[in-house]
Amino acid sequence: MAYETITVEVDDHVATITLNRPDALNALNSQLLRELCKALGEASANDKVRCIILTGSSKAFAAGADIKEMSEKSFVDVFTEDYFWTEHQAITATRKPIIAAVAGYALGGGCELAMMCDFIIAADTAKFGQPEINLGVIAGIGGTQRLTRLVGKSKSMDMHLTGRFMDAEEAERAGLVSRVVPAKKLMEEAQGAAQKIAEKSMLATVAAKEAVNRAEEVSLSEGLLFEKRLFQSLFASEDQKEGMAAFQEKREAQFRDK
Ligand code: HXC
Repeated sequence: MAYETITVEVDDHVATITLNRPDALNALNSQLLRELCKALGEASANDKVRCIILTGSSKAFAAGADIKEMSEKSFVDVFTEDYFWTEHQAITATRKPIIAAVAGYALGGGCELAMMCDFIIAADTAKFGQPEINLGVIAGIGGTQRLTRLVGKSKSMDMHLTGRFMDAEEAERAGLVSRVVPAKKLMEEAQGAAQKIAEKSMLATVAAKEAVNRAEEVSLSEGLLFEKRLFQSLFASEDQKEGMAAFQEKREAQFRDK
């Protein structure tokens, strides 16, 4: 379907969704988030798609929620609409892996959107921040929670209270991003990671994603139990037989998601 604020390309099992509001540094307005959720739903329903890349432009992944749209809203508006919460739920409920490929600014809701993805690959030009404090508000779709879990209280507090930006090198050191690459190589690196993921058994991929995400929600003993049961259940799959046979026969595994 035709979108106005994003573009979507499906190539070789990978759906690449590109945020596309260049005049506003990809600021997240209601239309963009609605279209993003629709595109994620289509990628989820498309059996060909095995991994999703979410990216922006070389200047901005997304410079935050759209301040022009937000500025007119009252408490009753954002409370009644549950501003961007439905979209947050839809994005984080996506079962297929989502890689955020971030160049330039990932600020406020943009940083939060990147953190909703499964991992972040950053260009060396990336700048992360939660500058909502400068607008008299705070993060509203996960920033105070996810950034704190990723980088710890001290750095998260620093980011949220001062509104300063973190460059890619600091973000990697702090654990916010998994890899930093030269800006020119960003999409190649993200595509390479997505292709690697696409080769695996989707059963194991979804299990791994669910298990890692549980680590943020439950106690260690509950998480270990959850992981153990998922691990054990994968022995009911043909892909487990195939993966282990292929290793012993020194050949590539041919997974069939069964
Ligand atoms: C709307 C935005 C925008 C935003 C940039 N623009 N960020 N429009 N919402 N978040 C627009 C500018 O108004 C400008 O449009 C154009 O994009 C280019 O931006 P400039 O400021 O001219 O570019 P530059 O000088 O390079 O500065 C880049 C920047 C700055 C440092 C990223 O734009 C900036 O500070 N933006 C706001 C960042 C921010 O505060 N984000 C948090 C938002 S609150 P015109 O028409 O003037 O050319 C949030 C809450 C999330 O995200 C919670 C949701 C529930």
